[in-house]
Amino acid sequence: MPATLFILNGPNLNRLGTREPETYGRTTLADIEAQCRATGARLGFDIVFRQSNHEGTLVDWIQEAGDVARGLIINPAAYTHTSVALHDAIRTAAVPTVEVHLSNVFAREAFRHHSYVSPVAVGVICGFGAKGYDLAIEALANKLGA
Ligand code: DQA
Repeated sequence: MPATLFILNGPNLNRLGTREPETYGRTTLADIEAQCRATGARLGFDIVFRQSNHEGTLVDWIQEAGDVARGLIINPAAYTHTSVALHDAIRTAAVPTVEVHLSNVFAREAFRHHSYVSPVAVGVICGFGAKGYDLAIEALANKLGA
């Protein structure tokens, strides 16, 4: 049975394509999902791909990933910079987690330079747009020896 990777997306990422295209590009979340499914299939993973604007829903899904997934990729969006709840959920889930951002958060406002998620992630990929999701899947495949 193929290993499952959870790919979770936080608030406002449902608006990709039209949201601040100068920062996030024109790629939609549906495009990113299709790309992740193709990369996951190539590397032998089942992909669970979800988005929520709600912090508690993301906590529920991280807990679920801890129960059923071999790896977690998360773009926590704005909750990156605010959420102790996501930090605690990822710490407790103890599933290898890669943090992804489309934009280079370090080249942006100072409030985006701190992440509550990075200390509980195995690695962080930012600044490469949608390609970052592919890189994260490849990084987890490598980490898991898949
Ligand atoms: C983001 C960066 C965050 O600072 C921002 O709040 C987002 C998107 C990114 O993918 O670049 O919503 O996570």
